[in-house]
Amino acid sequence: MSSVSKAVGENLQRASWIRKMFEEGARMKAERGSDKVFDFTLGNPEVEPPQALIDTVKTLVASDQRGLHSYMPNAGYPRTRAVVAQLMSKATGLDYTENHVLMTVGAGGALNALLKALLDPGDEVIVLAPYFVEYGFYVGNHGGRIVLVDTDEDFGINVERIAAVITPRTKAIIINSPNNPTGVIYSEASLCRLGDLLESLEQPVTVISDEPYKALTFDGVKAPELPKCIRRTVIATSWSKALAIPGERIGYLAISPKIPEARQIFDACTFTNRTLGFVNAPALWQNVIAEVAELTIDITPYQEKRDIFYDGLTTIGYDVVKPHGAFYLFPKTPIADDIEFAGLLKEEGILTVPGTGFGRKGHVRVTLTVPRDTIERSLPGFERVFRKVSA
Ligand SMILES: Cc1ncc(COP(=O)(O)O)c(C=O)c1O
Repeated sequence: MSSVSKAVGENLQRASWIRKMFEEGARMKAERGSDKVFDFTLGNPEVEPPQALIDTVKTLVASDQRGLHSYMPNAGYPRTRAVVAQLMSKATGLDYTENHVLMTVGAGGALNALLKALLDPGDEVIVLAPYFVEYGFYVGNHGGRIVLVDTDEDFGINVERIAAVITPRTKAIIINSPNNPTGVIYSEASLCRLGDLLESLEQPVTVISDEPYKALTFDGVKAPELPKCIRRTVIATSWSKALAIPGERIGYLAISPKIPEARQIFDACTFTNRTLGFVNAPALWQNVIAEVAELTIDITPYQEKRDIFYDGLTTIGYDVVKPHGAFYLFPKTPIADDIEFAGLLKEEGILTVPGTGFGRKGHVRVTLTVPRDTIERSLPGFERVFRKVSA
């Protein structure tokens, strides 16, 4: 007999294969030596944060200023929110103020505060597959239900498919660009078409733009600003990836000034941020961000690794959509069964995450958050497995 709730128990059961893979990875490293195991499973930045950020933290920690560690307004320090609002206004041309911005405990905290503010039991949230699996749990946390819509072959948005699943219960759509797991950046044209579709509806459907990878783009490509062409956009994001500080848990919600009831959403999220127990985003990190909000890690090493991995895999014969952002590749598996293929890669010491876990079979996700030589040394193993199944 378990005292754990049925829902959480079932989720634990379903998520157990991810845990199993981590355990398997640790076991293999102990057995074969860690240089013979190529672990591409975890999206944890391996670079250190920029020195300017570290220096700002040191100055703040050494400061004698009183009240630095106290409670504050639940939405966060007005000064930090004003800095973010200014950046948002510059990027979008819209008139964001500190009352459109709420500091949160990472993007995960932002998404949960917003979903709690928006959803009634049974409400539906459209999610584009492949997708970040936590969305299902986050939506479920607040009584909602996710409705999956497949993206195209090249992982672009298919507006017709989205239109086909909208019901009177549809409350929101989560857009994640640059995307985890594909690295794809959705085109401005497709986002504007989605904006047009939503304008044609009678009901308000909020677009939640989950964009923690926004600063990590390659080849000079920039991710489009959703609030420019989708009126009801709320951004839920963080500096986890842009500054390589995922453990520090600092992010924000930015509610578009074009939403008629923006103030009501701001008040609702301030309340949910408080009552979910976050209370407010970490004080120290809000003060750091006020100084370095525009800073980004050097993305050159990620782009170089993207090139090595993409060129290496496509030369072998893998079919890969070239990612222009984030730090993942999502190659097609040469056999339909991605779980079986991930198993074959594992025999070569290569650990990947099957696409099934992201709602798109026939693919595996690999991450670029590894040293460059791990990618280079893994390629012969990728080749042997490719040849084996193609023989
Ligand atoms: C698509 C996506 N959204 C949200 C998050 C959560 O970000 P945070 O660490 O800021 O909560 C992640 C983390 O990997 C992610 O990949």
